[in-house]
Amino acid sequence: MENLDEIKSEITGQVAAAADLDALEQARIGALGKKGRVTEMMKGLGAMSADERKEAGQALNSLKGDINAAIDARKDTLEGAHIDAQLEAERIDVTLPARRISAGAIHPISQTIEEVVSIFGEMGFTVAEGPDIEEDWYNFTALNIPPDHPARQEHDTFYVNAIKDGQRMVLRTHTSPVQIRTMQTQKPPIRIIVPGRTYRCDHDATHSPMFHQVEGLMIDEATHMGHLKGCLIDFCRAFFGAAELPVRFRPSYFPFTEPSAEVDIGCSFEDGTLKIGGGDDWLEILGSGMVNPNVLENCGIDSTKYQGFAFGMGIERIAMLKYGIPDLRTFYDSDLRWLRHYGFASLDVPSMVGRAAR
Ligand code: PHE
Repeated sequence: MENLDEIKSEITGQVAAAADLDALEQARIGALGKKGRVTEMMKGLGAMSADERKEAGQALNSLKGDINAAIDARKDTLEGAHIDAQLEAERIDVTLPARRISAGAIHPISQTIEEVVSIFGEMGFTVAEGPDIEEDWYNFTALNIPPDHPARQEHDTFYVNAIKDGQRMVLRTHTSPVQIRTMQTQKPPIRIIVPGRTYRCDHDATHSPMFHQVEGLMIDEATHMGHLKGCLIDFCRAFFGAAELPVRFRPSYFPFTEPSAEVDIGCSFEDGTLKIGGGDDWLEILGSGMVNPNVLENCGIDSTKYQGFAFGMGIERIAMLKYGIPDLRTFYDSDLRWLRHYGFASLDVPSMVGRAAR
């Protein structure tokens, strides 16, 4: 038989020199694989006498054991080195500053519309909408404001070039035309709330040529002034978050309601700052009234059978009062610093942004 010590040192030398796990596997196959050097020698045992076989068998088994031990040791070393290299290459630098997540904010106009819609939603009102570019008939005539009526002058109307039924189309001056559109297409009982853009040729700290209103309309057989009052008192108290908020109904005039009332809430001016809820001052916040029978008839609704109330309010105005925003023009400046200050966190961004976080 060949010199086993020499063979052993040759093979363990190859094992120790294996540079990676592949090379190590090649060395193992060369010695212990099906046609490996040691395996071939084992095959020779069968041709030996019993005594020779016993001696050579023991020697070969011990050689095999030594080789396996050398392979295991080398394997441990190579795997350890592999993990070390990986740890080094994939190390995360935890000292790097975090990336800023820039969260958007809900504009106070959108927030206020949401609040108004949800308060009236609880009272059973659903949202209705109409076009911004409106026919003269819907914006004025059907609302009991005929062509020569003085109320038309007060509306500072933007006229557009398009003409319908001999009249110039207009940018709607209020959301009231949606009352008409709804009464033409729905049968009573009607309970709608109409948030939307409105336009008047006017521009200063409290007026913008484009602004927002919310209209309300309720029509049924027995809807009366008491319903109007209860509904609007509840709304004012819910919106301003003051259960005892004083609310006053002051006689007024609108062509499309009779009787008409403007609604004021109690407030005080202490050291020049406005405080809502109590005190001896009043702030006007909306217009309202019982729908004029002429308006019902213009929509094909029998005014001897149905009656109801309507109201309209400026969104910017109630947002400015509730959130202490001093200048109406800033709503449309698209200044991100302003939006960060007055905006609201959206529901899916639980952290930061504006007063909702405070
Ligand atoms: N349309 C009126 C306005 O713009 C508000 C209003 C609506 C008044 C409904 C009464 C009823 O001023």
